[in-house]
Amino acid sequence: MEENHFIAKKATPIPWTTFWEAPSNIALIKYWGKTTPQIPKNSSLSFTLSSSVTQTQITYQPAGSGTFDFSFYFEGVAKPDFKPKLQTFFKRIEPYVPWIEGYELTIKSSNTFPHSSGIASSASAMAALAMCLMDLELKLFPGMETELFHQKASFLARLGSGSAARSVQGPVTLWGANKIQDHSSDLYALPFGPDLHPVFSTYQDAILLVDKGTKAVSSSQGHQLMHQHPFAPQRFLQAAENLEAIVPVMKAGDLEAFIKIVELEALSLHAMMMTSNPYFILMKPNTLAIIKRIWEFRASTSIPVCFTLDAGANVHLLYPQDYINQVNTFIREELAVFCQKGQYLLDQVGEGAKKV
Ligand code: DP6
Repeated sequence: MEENHFIAKKATPIPWTTFWEAPSNIALIKYWGKTTPQIPKNSSLSFTLSSSVTQTQITYQPAGSGTFDFSFYFEGVAKPDFKPKLQTFFKRIEPYVPWIEGYELTIKSSNTFPHSSGIASSASAMAALAMCLMDLELKLFPGMETELFHQKASFLARLGSGSAARSVQGPVTLWGANKIQDHSSDLYALPFGPDLHPVFSTYQDAILLVDKGTKAVSSSQGHQLMHQHPFAPQRFLQAAENLEAIVPVMKAGDLEAFIKIVELEALSLHAMMMTSNPYFILMKPNTLAIIKRIWEFRASTSIPVCFTLDAGANVHLLYPQDYINQVNTFIREELAVFCQKGQYLLDQVGEGAKKV
């Protein structure tokens, strides 16, 4: 599907309110490096989460032709500082949703996960916003196929934040043109499909909150640094190879092979950060302490736990639902001590965005 398939028509504004929630996601094959407009340098694959969601309500008020404005509230409080980022988003998506002209929007958003917990909320936030936009588009132009609805929602979400493209559907999604999936595209994410081994549709993700502070280097800056990065071409090839390798593994449910690819991807992402110019480190000593404990626990129990990392110090501990009791005890007794204020979140793979 090309970009121009997503261009809607203009329409007479109508009053409308819609309320959606969209989850965060955690990449197993990492997106790190992009070109304009939000085109990834390599394809990525992620688990869609279940409980870590952003809930967004938009009230659309007709406001006369030629105008467009919005106000934004986060957890009940007006947040004018969020406006520039949203303005950039609305400008980028305007050609695809020309019907938006003539509206004044009131956007109210909140997260189910604790504020500044270090969880990337841009994926869930941008996906929830995209769903609210698509909801009105469907109202204005009824009869849109469900598949197109999801693809365009993912397309719009991507223009807000790349990883948000993967937060529309679940339980596993792929974003980026690749050799293994039919109709794959850099413009939007697609679900893994019915061949996914059932073990992965209930996989658990414990998010160990090692550091809840603001990151020294943002993801946007990190993506930028990949432009001049001496190892970037090799990294993009590695990601493509890892994607090609993980797809059959996720069809077969081969957990040993899964663990090797997932941990390699996490450490490769952080290796890119450590070898950027300027270089930076987002892991903390407790990140490494947790990784060491995970490896020891896996070796001594043969329970297939593994870790991944996003662009930060927190550790995502991934494990099959069958081991929930043993692993949760392990977290409580051995890992919580390395988390800031002992905090962690227990989440699992989920089905994607929902109307509230
Ligand atoms: C390390 O999607 O946050 O989490 O497109 O600039 O908004 P922008 O970046 P963002 O980058 C995510 C980076 C990552 C890996 C991933 O989610 O694939």
